[in-house]
Amino acid sequence: MSFKVMAVCAGRHGGNGEILAKEALCAVQEAGGEVELVNLFDYNILPCTGCEGCTMQMGKVGAGLQKEYHGCVLKDKDDVDALVSEMQTCQGIIFAAPTYDLVPSSLYIRFAQRFLAYELSFLLAIGAVEENPHTVAGLISVGGSMHDWQSLALESLQATMFTMSLTVVDRFLAQRNGRPGNVLVWEDQLPRARKMGENIVRAIQTPVEERGWLGDADDGVCPNCHSSLIYPGDKHWDGIEFPWECAVCGAGGDLAIDETTGRPKLKVAENGLIRDRNNDAARAEHLNEINKTRDDFFLHLDEVKPLMERYAKMEFPTLEIERA
Ligand SMILES: Cc1cc2nc3c(=O)[nH]c(=O)nc-3n(C[C@H](O)[C@H](O)[C@H](O)COP(=O)(O)O)c2cc1C
Repeated sequence: MSFKVMAVCAGRHGGNGEILAKEALCAVQEAGGEVELVNLFDYNILPCTGCEGCTMQMGKVGAGLQKEYHGCVLKDKDDVDALVSEMQTCQGIIFAAPTYDLVPSSLYIRFAQRFLAYELSFLLAIGAVEENPHTVAGLISVGGSMHDWQSLALESLQATMFTMSLTVVDRFLAQRNGRPGNVLVWEDQLPRARKMGENIVRAIQTPVEERGWLGDADDGVCPNCHSSLIYPGDKHWDGIEFPWECAVCGAGGDLAIDETTGRPKLKVAENGLIRDRNNDAARAEHLNEINKTRDDFFLHLDEVKPLMERYAKMEFPTLEIERA
C-alpha cells in the first residue's frame, strides 16, 4: 500500500523543530512512504477573520437552505487552502511547533485556526471530500525549557486536531532546546523523533478500527488522549457535569492514583466519553450547542439591535498609525 506523510513545521528554517521533523520523515521514507515537508514561514497565512461564514454556511447547507458550500472567505486570498488540500492527500501528518510563552507559536495557531472551514465530517457529508483519509498525526513541541515552561504546548497542538478529525497516535515534548541545532546535542531526541516516524507508519499500516496510542505508555493524565491537563469540571450548556475533565478531549471522570506509576490519572466515568472531542458524533452535539446559542441570540435580535447600534456609535481615542 502506498502512503504519504507530510511534516508541517512552524519553527525556524534549520531550527530544532525542522531537524526533528526531518528525522521523523527519514524513518517514513525508509519504510517506503512518500514524504513532504512544509515550513509555515514560507506561506501566506491570514488570520481567521472570525466571520463565522463557514459555520453559518454549514448550518444552511445542513438545513437545505443553501446548495453549495463555498468554504472560507479567505480561500482565494492566501495559501491555506492549498496547504489543507495537500494535507487531505496524506495518510499521516507530523506537526512540529516551537513553544512560545508556554503555547505553540502564533504562526502555527494562525494556521490551525483556519481548520474550522475544513471540518471533515461536514465535508464528507456534503461530498466535498470523497473518502475519509483517516489521517493519523504525530505532535512535536520543541522549547528551550522542560515541561514546566511548555505546560500548554502539546495540549494546545492537540486541541487543533479535532475539526479535521486528525487522530493523534504519538506526541513528544522536545526539551531544553534554545539555539537552532540544540536538539543535536541530546542523545535521545533524534531517536525519539525517528520513533515518531516509525509510529506514524505503523498506525497507517494498521486497520483503522485497530489503531491505538503508540506514544509513551505513561504519557499524560488522561487515558483517552494522554493530555496532562485535567481540571475540576463545571456544568455544560445542557447540564452535564463531571467532577474532573480533560481540558483537551473533554473526557470526564474522577482523579485517582495509578497503582503502577503512583501518579494521578483520570478514571473515566461510565458516560465520561460522551463529550469526547475525538469522536465525530460527540462533536456534532457541540454543533447543536452552537446552533442553540445562535437561535437564542436571533430570538433576542429586536431587543439587542438598538443596543448594538449604541455601542457601534461609541468612539474612544485609539492609536492612529500614519501609513505612506
Ligand atoms: C518569543 C519566544 C518565546 C519563547 N517561549 C518559550 C517558552 O515559553 N517555553 C520554552 O520552553 N521555550 C520558549 N522559547 C524557546 C523556543 O521554543 C526554542 O528556541 C525552540 O527551540 C524554537 O524552535 P525552532 O528552533 O524550531 O524554531 C521561546 C522563544 C521565543 C522566540
